[in-house]
Amino acid sequence: MSNTFTKHTDRQNLTLCSDAEQASIYTARQIADVILEKQKQGERAILGLATGKTPIKVYQELIRLHKTEKLSFHNVISFNLDEYYPICSKSIQSYSYFMQHHLFGHVDIQPGNIHIPHADCSSDRIPFYCTDYEEKIRSFGGLDLQLLGIGRNGHIGFNEPGSSFDSTTRLVDLHALTRKDAEGDFGTIENVPYQAISVGIHTIIKAQKIMLLAIGKDKSQIISKALRGEISTEVPASLLQTIPHVEFILDRDAAALIGD
Ligand code: PGA
Repeated sequence: MSNTFTKHTDRQNLTLCSDAEQASIYTARQIADVILEKQKQGERAILGLATGKTPIKVYQELIRLHKTEKLSFHNVISFNLDEYYPICSKSIQSYSYFMQHHLFGHVDIQPGNIHIPHADCSSDRIPFYCTDYEEKIRSFGGLDLQLLGIGRNGHIGFNEPGSSFDSTTRLVDLHALTRKDAEGDFGTIENVPYQAISVGIHTIIKAQKIMLLAIGKDKSQIISKALRGEISTEVPASLLQTIPHVEFILDRDAAALIGD
């Protein structure tokens, strides 16, 4: 891909792309390669998927590969990172709806292979569902690939600042900036849920391969902190500096402040 170059440093695998489109196409290709490699081996591909604005173009490219290059999702088992709590899974702000709308409704994934944290359950069922979610991931042998975005406060999934590095799936309180960034989706800030169910940081880093995608200048400051700053629970994504199987895929704008 002419506009993409990959730069490996001692600390990090960085893939720098000219723009959002190149970054998304590159990311989709990596995901497709995992699916195809597993198909060749007659195995299932266990994918950890993300929501938000960042992966939308990635999913568009995966749909294109499905429709024009016959990429099949038949062997894909998916686990989404998070879901607002409480929310009805049919609500258009839910991540269940998002995934159906942006990916699952357009490819041949088997509905029974889709997993999204269950957020229309009663609060006393949450611990059960969280343990069950972890158990399900384990039962498939863990995630082959985890796709991540990054929040402007450094969250990965909804692991907000202060999240423990050994956290697993649980109910979390949403950070004020996260709620503010979601305001557009919910119409008013009052409508944005205060909580979510999120897989933990420990759950994420156990994946065989992690791809963190960041696009746009709104992400440049947090990317600089996460990749070049101190490793701290205050910037959850900073932990990824220490994990060798992470690839950071950045467009030019998101990479603007990281220097050489
Ligand atoms: P965004 O969210 O893609 O909508 O910027 C990223 C995230 O919160 O992980």
